[in-house]
Amino acid sequence: MRTQVGIIGAGPAGLFLAHLLHRLGIGAIVIECRSRQAVEETVRAGVLEHWVVALMKDLGLGERMMREGHFHDGITLQWNGERHHVDIQGLTGGKRVAVYAQHEVLKDLIAGRLAQGGEIVFGVGGTAIRDLDTGHPAIDFHRDGTGALETIRCDYVIGADGFHGPARQAIPATHRTEYQKIYPFGWLGILTKAPLSWPELIYTNQGDGFALLSTRSPDVQRMYIQCDPAGDIANWPDARIWEQLHARLATNGGWSLTEGPIFQKGIIPLRSFVCEPMQYGRLFIAGDAAHIVPPTGAKGLNLAVADVLVLSRALNAHYKHNRRDLLDQYSATCLRRVWKAERFSWYMTTMLHRNDLETEFERRIHFADLDLVCTSEASARSLAENYVGLPFD
Ligand code: FAD
Ligand code: DHB
Repeated sequence: MRTQVGIIGAGPAGLFLAHLLHRLGIGAIVIECRSRQAVEETVRAGVLEHWVVALMKDLGLGERMMREGHFHDGITLQWNGERHHVDIQGLTGGKRVAVYAQHEVLKDLIAGRLAQGGEIVFGVGGTAIRDLDTGHPAIDFHRDGTGALETIRCDYVIGADGFHGPARQAIPATHRTEYQKIYPFGWLGILTKAPLSWPELIYTNQGDGFALLSTRSPDVQRMYIQCDPAGDIANWPDARIWEQLHARLATNGGWSLTEGPIFQKGIIPLRSFVCEPMQYGRLFIAGDAAHIVPPTGAKGLNLAVADVLVLSRALNAHYKHNRRDLLDQYSATCLRRVWKAERFSWYMTTMLHRNDLETEFERRIHFADLDLVCTSEASARSLAENYVGLPFD
């Protein structure tokens, strides 16, 4: 097989890139180690920054998102039984986020790409990258996991293969630096068949710590609680989850959370991670392959899309105008946004979680931080600008 850009991974980074390149008339093939069904069913992030919503529409992929997504003017912060509305829309000159699940975005991207005649090879095995130092890098893979060995010859290889994929490892260890922070807590996420309990997302730090009330549809709600990252989900029967959600979301005003049957639950660890640089020879890495944020503030998916927007512009300048400079600057350009998202996700995470390794002094500082956001317009605006999506430089 021969194409201009070989993309490893059919997550948000790989699929948005395939669409952006198609619109620019640049050829790309995507390979993915999981089945289409597995990709379309994995429950992950939920919040789209305002410019990602605009990009979905721009790419002609926004119809279902506009119909089924929830558009929120603000968020609610809670501690000590009190709720405070942060007017994201008012503080950012009218910008809003959409709550539209990542796997729904992926369904729209996959259907759209296949309808354009684009090539996405699902269920590949043994992905290997080679010849990065030459003008003709290659990606080897086995079709259907263990079937015939096939090769994609291309001009550029894009590693959009998530945190555990092989692309980052293809950058020699001597050429990359990795920065990491592991948090002493994880998130237990559930999907429940229940009606909406509150009109917007609630981020709370109360009792045993963090909880997040989010939504998916009028009758399916998404909720998270802070938990032991090494905990076994078997030790979290539904009654224990509800007890914790009730305690962390309880208000002084007698509001109550509506329960429903839980039909999906899982635990994820929380980590911050950045790999510098995000390129080596003819390899460019994007999204979770290059960086991870803890999920508080919902930056992961949005950051993956930001990387590939920068990359698509750089590839366009290269192919259309024979300019190499934007490709050379890809990593530096992305990392400025990446570190700001790392900072924001770390800030939201430390402010909103109970960390028993910290002192009571630090705990009070986190409540002071929450109080500041809810009483200082400058502080609230800073949170709002980051939450809705920073402008591109
Ligand atoms: P991914 O979505 O990981 O996509 C990479 C793709 O590459 C995958 O489909 C993978 O199967 C494929 N791949 C890997 N190896 C190979 C290979 N060798 N060959 C071919 N293909 C390969 N963010 C939030 O903001 N809020 C959340 O609530 C949230 N929850 C999350 C829950 C989980 C369990 C995880 C893992 C992440 C969560 N995130 C969340 C983060 C967010 O989902 C990611 O930031 C986002 O998916 C990044 O997109 P990506 O395209 O870079 O990587
Ligand atoms: C969701 C996830 C997040 O990380 C977040 O900050 C808000 C919402 C969600 O999955 O709905």
